[in-house]
Amino acid sequence: MSSQGYAFADVADVRERLRETGYLADEAIATTVFLADRLGKPLLVEGPAGVGKTELAKALTSAVGAELIRLQCYEGLDEARALYEWNYKKQLLRIQAGAGAGAEGTAEESSGSAAWRQTHDDIFSEEFLLSRPLLTAIRRDSPTVLLIDETDKADVEVEGLLLEVLSDFQVTIPELGTLKATRRPFVILTSNATRELSEALKRRCLYLNLDYPSAAREKEIVLSRVPELGERMAESLVRIVRSLRAMELKKAPSIAETIDWGQTVLALGFDTMDDAAVTSTLGVVLKHASDQARAISQLKLGAN
Ligand SMILES: Nc1ncnc2c1ncn2[C@@H]1O[C@H](COP(=O)(O)OP(=O)(O)OP(=O)(O)O)[C@@H](O)[C@H]1O
Ligand SMILES: [Mg+2]
Repeated sequence: MSSQGYAFADVADVRERLRETGYLADEAIATTVFLADRLGKPLLVEGPAGVGKTELAKALTSAVGAELIRLQCYEGLDEARALYEWNYKKQLLRIQAGAGAGAEGTAEESSGSAAWRQTHDDIFSEEFLLSRPLLTAIRRDSPTVLLIDETDKADVEVEGLLLEVLSDFQVTIPELGTLKATRRPFVILTSNATRELSEALKRRCLYLNLDYPSAAREKEIVLSRVPELGERMAESLVRIVRSLRAMELKKAPSIAETIDWGQTVLALGFDTMDDAAVTSTLGVVLKHASDQARAISQLKLGAN
């Protein structure tokens, strides 16, 4: 990190350092990442599956030499999994140990309650606290990227929880007080937009809409991941993938699938993507029978 505490010198620096990690960012991505760093704001990245949302967080982590703390969202994710919880088992053991010791002493009413207060203070201390990703991320004092992945999969209530963390970078634990971040993590939230996130949450974030890349950039991405593939083959794959995306499919192929396809044709030793080659490997890019049927008829692959 630079002396002013910023991770990047300018937009070009973001691009260059992401590229060094193998992530090819366009101008929009590099600019938003730069701004998120300068303004100290969380970055919400929204877009279809497999366009490089999660990968951006990972690339950023290595570009700035940080550690990645990941909160994977899912239905039913709650405070105990996202923020913190008390270690009940350990607390119980502590109480039992305390009760054993107390029974030996004089069973006087007042000293009993003092002992209980002591035990209570004891079991609600750091030692019994289980820190989950959000709390862990704000308490770290070395560079941290906090990835809140697939935010739209979590229930709406989780957003309330995120709001406190993302607006004040602090967490309030009733028994311990308010724990404030010593050093703000770089926060990236991702969403597949299966539902709208709340306005309150969006207001706290910078927004990056990631979509399928241009043909040229996708070719570059494929070649950076599968260099042995060669320009010509990468170009054909990208062209076919783009024509598949233009069809009305249940699940359009993503960048991840284009890369897989590259690895597949390399493994099989194909040197052109003729109809037979496309048909025999279609399962790598299209994962619904109806999508395959549609592609075969629209690309007129059944002809031979
Ligand atoms: N700009 C890029 N540069 C290099 N590789 C990329 C880029 N974008 C995507 N990829 C590749 O595409 C793959 C899929 O990306 P990623 O897993 O980040 O998708 P995602 O958007 O998080 O998808 P999902 O919504 O399914 O989680 C990555 O493994 C990465 O190799
Ligand atoms: Mg992802």
